[in-house]
Amino acid sequence: MRAEFFWGASTSAHQVEGNNHNDWSEWEAANAERLAKEASRQEAWLHIWPEVEDQATNPDNYRSGQAADHYNQYPKDLELAAGLGLNAYRFSVEWSRIEPQPGIFDEAAIEHYRQMVREARKQGMEPFVTMWHFTLPLWLRDQGGWHGRHAAEYFERYARKLAESLPEVKYWIILNEPTIYVGLGYLRGDWPPEHKNAFLAYRALRQLASAHRRAYRAIKTVNHDAQAGSAHQQVYFDPRPADFINHLSVSLHDYLFNRWFINRIRKEQDFIGVNYYLHEFVNLIVSGNTAGPQSDLNWQLYPVGLEYCLAGLKRYNKPLIVTESGLADKNDTHRSWYITESLAAIERAQTGGADVRGYFYWSLIDNFEWDKGFWPRFGLIEVDYRTQKRRLRPSAKVYSSLIKQKRAQ
Ligand code: BGC
Repeated sequence: MRAEFFWGASTSAHQVEGNNHNDWSEWEAANAERLAKEASRQEAWLHIWPEVEDQATNPDNYRSGQAADHYNQYPKDLELAAGLGLNAYRFSVEWSRIEPQPGIFDEAAIEHYRQMVREARKQGMEPFVTMWHFTLPLWLRDQGGWHGRHAAEYFERYARKLAESLPEVKYWIILNEPTIYVGLGYLRGDWPPEHKNAFLAYRALRQLASAHRRAYRAIKTVNHDAQAGSAHQQVYFDPRPADFINHLSVSLHDYLFNRWFINRIRKEQDFIGVNYYLHEFVNLIVSGNTAGPQSDLNWQLYPVGLEYCLAGLKRYNKPLIVTESGLADKNDTHRSWYITESLAAIERAQTGGADVRGYFYWSLIDNFEWDKGFWPRFGLIEVDYRTQKRRLRPSAKVYSSLIKQKRAQ
């Protein structure tokens, strides 16, 4: 693999920091009881259910609260990451901390993230900083969030402030998975702001695309050398049976889900961030897929799909960075295999001409999995939420030795 490849892992602020006060924390307070009640109906079919039932039916599971206390424990977490041989760390800054009131910036919060950036560098890791990973300050939620009239302008102001205040950041991830956010928050209504409205969904998507473009230009004006892109969920759609109609349907799914947003920001990106988790069979429509090994969330584990998704993005002629890929695997049964196969998939994509510059496992430490709460365990590092103790999972050591091996090649 190329010498300057980034070997990383990712997290996001709300999922690990603890003590956030934003639209999600308020949504959790309002919905924790309901989610705990619904869990037995919605999740009892999961193979891991007997092991997680107590947690999943407890409302506390659905309140992010102290989370993994990464806000305070990050020096230790970064040290563990560096000890594994990672040379990059992706994390997000929390908009509600940085801009608690419209246009009023909290310099102490900014200083906190400046220290994180410095600590990552000190530990030999390149910081990749995400500006927005799903959460909104309450003042923006109250103005309609992403479908409100001025969301993109507000985001531009925030992005400019970040670029000015953190000039040492070289890699910015502007938005995380806008399509997933809009799908779950505006079409399915499972996430805040709980809409099921295609018109609002379209408006939110357009604002997000405009927010990305404005932020990109602001970053480049402040620091021309910075590299910026967004992270996009990419699903590998697989025609089954592979007949003409299903191929056509896959092209449509691929266009709408994987490429529509990227096309909207085509000129305003230095790289494309790829988040890969899902392999879906398409028989006219997405028809689900539970063949083969599965994660604790019963997502089919198909690392080969990463190669195909990367190959599909070659058309943009941009560097590609796998900004997330991982699995919920409490007992660490599949993680080592999954990481090994994902790296092999990347190598094959590179051989096929895709310019892949990095791989970030999701996630560095166990975290709060949005409306599923704490029970799904994605971390290379296990967190005991009672004591906040960290423990390396065996797969972390496997990832570490793969990095050492490949860096020596
Ligand atoms: C998101 C993460 C999430 C992960 C696993 C991605 O869609 O960016 O926040 O934890 O998937 O579901």
